[in-house]
Amino acid sequence: MKNIDIIDILTNGKDYEGKSVVVAGWARTARDSKTMAFVALNDGTSLKHLQIVIDKAKFDGAELSKCLKNGASLLVNGTVVPAMNQGDYEINAESIELLGDCPQDYPLQKKYHSLEFLRTIPHLRVRTNTFNAMLRVRSKLSFAIHRFFQENGYTYIHTPIITGSDCEGAGEIFHVTTHGCASAKLSKDEAEYMATDFFKRKAGLTVSGQLEGEVAAMAMGKIYTFGPTFRAENSNTPRHAAEFWQVEPEVAFAKLPDIINIAESMIKYIIKAVLDECPEEIAFFEKAFESGLRAKLTAVVESEFKVLDYTEAIEILKKSGEKFVYPVEWGLDLQSEHERYITEKVFNKPVFVINYPKHIKSFYMKQNDDGKTVAATDLLVPGVGEIIGCSEREADYDKLKQAMVDRNMNLDDYVGYMDLRKYGSVPHSGFGLGLERIMMYVTGISNIRDVQLYARTTGDLM
Ligand code: 4AD
Ligand code: MG
Repeated sequence: MKNIDIIDILTNGKDYEGKSVVVAGWARTARDSKTMAFVALNDGTSLKHLQIVIDKAKFDGAELSKCLKNGASLLVNGTVVPAMNQGDYEINAESIELLGDCPQDYPLQKKYHSLEFLRTIPHLRVRTNTFNAMLRVRSKLSFAIHRFFQENGYTYIHTPIITGSDCEGAGEIFHVTTHGCASAKLSKDEAEYMATDFFKRKAGLTVSGQLEGEVAAMAMGKIYTFGPTFRAENSNTPRHAAEFWQVEPEVAFAKLPDIINIAESMIKYIIKAVLDECPEEIAFFEKAFESGLRAKLTAVVESEFKVLDYTEAIEILKKSGEKFVYPVEWGLDLQSEHERYITEKVFNKPVFVINYPKHIKSFYMKQNDDGKTVAATDLLVPGVGEIIGCSEREADYDKLKQAMVDRNMNLDDYVGYMDLRKYGSVPHSGFGLGLERIMMYVTGISNIRDVQLYARTTGDLM
């Protein structure tokens, strides 16, 4: 490999001035005039393209014209020179090798393509500015998440992808089986089906690494998981994906206010990292997707998040005079429209809603003394709604067991989890941040399908 990264030339152009270099990439656009031609070359290391200036007199016309096509891959040898724009650099081409031709049916011929159209060509949409910027922000964000936890003494745990439990109890499990359709039909009941299946019991893709994360936290104290989670959620919304990434810290000895502080610190840390490390990408998203994006993110880093009791949230919604589609009543879950009203219209900043009614939340959440609510919180942000689901965990064996019995759960599937409350139980708390949700918030991209390399949603597996 002889080529140097385009980002290197764009940022350290002065060091290369007058020198001969080799660069490689894909022609994003090509312009041809009588004596000169120009190629905007991108190798994925930066959002910005490197301009290749071609003096046509130096090249064979027929050979050159093959290189002047959108999408063609090129290896260019040339001299680095200052560009017209102060501080920018470009390449005066000496030779160009066509690595891969790109015929006219290449779908990315226009400057602008709708995100809907791009979803039909997931293998090519990565070659647009939007996906170039999105993937770099996603990478920086992920690394910042690791940094935050590593710098604060957490151990990174890899929890299993295949599990026998349903952490959220919502029945949104993708089943894991080695049986084909035929054996399903031949089995007379579930027991017979399982008896010859791989695990000899029900198995599924994890909806959350939390239950196993708690196991690790009961020995390692402060842990986090960061990996893919899966939900067969049939809701065709812009915020739900069947496969998404979750960051899930679990902290021994932490109570609800402690974990809220940790979540707030983490969100600020990772947003600041993106602001610092991806200024060009944020400027791009600001122009293309959400005006005022940088100011919004900067304000989040500097603000204090609101903490609001669920009961108070219901009162605010009732008094709002808004016409909501879904009813507002104490005991009902907050719908997206309610969440957004609270965080966008009332507070215009991130809001932790705390102390939800226990019957709308999961079995593992710590029951408050009032007998009605749990020490849980969702973090809501403007534009997206819920990005974090969080709670203190029920550390009392009997209370946990009762909550599971009340939900008709099969206790045999959770013996190990319940044992944690039997052997040296401690107060502990954790949360799950949806990576795609925070990506939507940070980029202003409003559909979850456009913040993943491949979107997995109901009826869609490209
Ligand atoms: O609120 P959830 O369901 O909480 C849990 O799974 C807990 N076990 C987490 C924990 O305490 N360790 O999901 C957590 C977050 C949500 O706030 C949301 O950001 C994201 O995961 N999420 C989804 N993101 C995309 N598509 C979906 N279908 C999602 N479901 C949840
Ligand atoms: Mg939730």
